[in-house]
Amino acid sequence: MKENLSFRNVTKVTTHVLQEMKNKGEKIAMLTAYDYSIARILDSTGIDVILVGDSASNVMAGHSSTLPITLNEMIYHASSVVRGVKRALVVVDLPFGTYQGNSKEALNSAIRIMKESGADAVKMEGGKEVLESVDRILSAGIPVMGHLGLTPQSIHKFGTYVVRATTEEEAAKLVQDAHLLSDAGCFGIVLEKIPAKLGARVTREVPIPIIGIGAGGKVDGQVLVLHDMLGITLEFSPRFLRRYHNLAEEVKGAVDRYINDVKSLDFPNEREQY
Ligand code: KIV
Repeated sequence: MKENLSFRNVTKVTTHVLQEMKNKGEKIAMLTAYDYSIARILDSTGIDVILVGDSASNVMAGHSSTLPITLNEMIYHASSVVRGVKRALVVVDLPFGTYQGNSKEALNSAIRIMKESGADAVKMEGGKEVLESVDRILSAGIPVMGHLGLTPQSIHKFGTYVVRATTEEEAAKLVQDAHLLSDAGCFGIVLEKIPAKLGARVTREVPIPIIGIGAGGKVDGQVLVLHDMLGITLEFSPRFLRRYHNLAEEVKGAVDRYINDVKSLDFPNEREQY
């Protein structure tokens, strides 16, 4: 495995650091977090980017889609994460319904996230259709990350989570959208669940960092939802997901032992009381 840790000692990851990483060919590692304690642990590992994703709607709140989460809830998660992070770049999803209406609403939502959470950047789904909002947010000095391919906030339009941009027409639109976002000044783009070849093409053609989730290995970096890669959400098993742990089993094992210890009067012992 190629060892390349040259950016690990930067004290704060900025959008400029990510661009340098792309330019030098060093891969970017990104994971989601939604709370202070986990964010602290992630930050101590040297992770480059922490995404406060609207996947919080699924993995934290138990909704079946990302649509119900509100701006106030995202700000709550984001401010908790920011308090635990010193080094990583913290990016926060603009939730569904807070930017699609018009660019003024989009700017107000982005400003609220930046002001009330202290995050470093926002992310929003879509290409040409959200460009006016992207422009307006960028002109207020707020860094924006795009999100193309499978865009979970539009799930009701597509009705399925299958691989996106498999036809020539869809692929051409995705490439065009990626160029538009890059030309507008976005600092990066997430590409979700698209053919690896298309991920590689966008990464070659577009100068800003491209972070994939199910977009193959030839992109500039990878992102996974923390609960999926740690094995907390076992029911979710797409092909792109590599599980690094089976935390659900570990938690159950620990809780089983605790229950036994309580019931058998083993806990607390003499040293565990006053
Ligand atoms: O909300 C989220 O976690 C995301 C990732 C899937 C990229 O947008």
